[in-house]
Amino acid sequence: MAGKYKVPRGTYDILPSESYKWQFITQKFREIAHLFNYREIITPIFESSGLFERSVGGNSDIVQKEMYKFKDKKGRQFALRPEGTAPVVRSYIENSLQMQPNASKLYYIAPMFRYDRPQKGRYRQFYQYGVENIGSENPAYDAEVIAMGYIFLEKLGLQNFSLEINSIGCSNCSQDYDKALIEYFSQYEAELCKDCRNRLQKNPKRVLDCKVPTCRKIAQNAPSMLDYLDEDCQNHFEKVQKYLQEMNIPFTVNPKIVRGLDYYTQTAFEFLNNNLGAQNAVCGGGRYNGLFQQLGGQNTPAIGFAGGMERLILSMENEGLSFGEEPHPQAFVVALGDEAKEFSLSLVHKLRNEKIATDTSYEKNSLKAQMKAADKSNALYCLILGDDELKTDTVTIKNMKTGEQKQIPLATLVQAIKQRTLV
Ligand code: HAM
Repeated sequence: MAGKYKVPRGTYDILPSESYKWQFITQKFREIAHLFNYREIITPIFESSGLFERSVGGNSDIVQKEMYKFKDKKGRQFALRPEGTAPVVRSYIENSLQMQPNASKLYYIAPMFRYDRPQKGRYRQFYQYGVENIGSENPAYDAEVIAMGYIFLEKLGLQNFSLEINSIGCSNCSQDYDKALIEYFSQYEAELCKDCRNRLQKNPKRVLDCKVPTCRKIAQNAPSMLDYLDEDCQNHFEKVQKYLQEMNIPFTVNPKIVRGLDYYTQTAFEFLNNNLGAQNAVCGGGRYNGLFQQLGGQNTPAIGFAGGMERLILSMENEGLSFGEEPHPQAFVVALGDEAKEFSLSLVHKLRNEKIATDTSYEKNSLKAQMKAADKSNALYCLILGDDELKTDTVTIKNMKTGEQKQIPLATLVQAIKQRTLV
């Protein structure tokens, strides 16, 4: 049956048959975040659009093409957030979180919005899990944040992913590098795609990670950022690599990683899964030492990452990994006859109060229909109440896996289910 409305293009429903996968992954992410002593931060879904224009960058694709902008009734210009870092920085500054204990390591799991061409692994509303480590420029934190991403993917059981890291230097190194890039790419200007011709003067680094084959080919021989790092940035990058090696985290240095957001300085990294096709970045991040000042705060170095939930689920499905068990009730009550039906209401209530997940069908009457419903619910036990059970204050408990069943006193039911001592 087709209804009148459809889900907007680039969005999707997370149906009950899929939502347990989300719960599994978010639960695992929370566990890792708590393991590293990160606290959750929840910011609004929309912000002043200036926040993103100033941070993600006026020349970035996200701001130029992909932002969902709208005016509210008073004419204020807002945007659905396209990413989570700028809102976290905004909140940190606004709430003076540097004064609060345990507020420098933050994590979030939240929907983001980008008006891009939808394809496999790319949506207009997608969900990110992410972390931000705020307040230090020590490269040990770079290594720690990267390690966190690595451990998360590893703990989920993923095998087919790789870690690529780079340093994109600071504004100091960028001046000469950008000049060198403009000089190099200008020789091929006519062959570059339209986007790259636009990017060339404003943001030449972005040409390096263009996906268009001719641009990619030209970029192959472009000057490398690593040859332009100043001493501080070079030392920083060497230490990050050393610490990763010490933690046995495998990585490759890829000088072409530039990231699509303008706020990055020094370390940039991506976790890639090449089985995913074009949208192969499972997770990406980097350092952003200048962002706080850019947004009116104090000079505060920071580093973080974010990953797409959808790409993670696709990767896990590709590798046949488990998302844990689908939730199901422990008990399903089957009641035969009016009196038993009425009694089942209080029994179900009592079991739920005892933290025993229970379901029943008040609708269905016949034994067959109710047993079928019990079966579909995937409950561990079926509890049958008929005239005989009512008269003798008992209940028949059936193990739905083995088919074994037994009649036991009602008074012992809760304990029996909790201890699974019966059948
Ligand atoms: P990003 O690389 O733009 O970085 O996005 C991070 C991740 O979000 C990507 O690696 C990808 O897995 C997922 N993603 C991005 N766009 C889409 C989309 N349209 N559909 C599905 N998944 C998508 C950031 O957003 C930075 N805020 C990360 C960060 C945190 N850097 C420092 N701290």
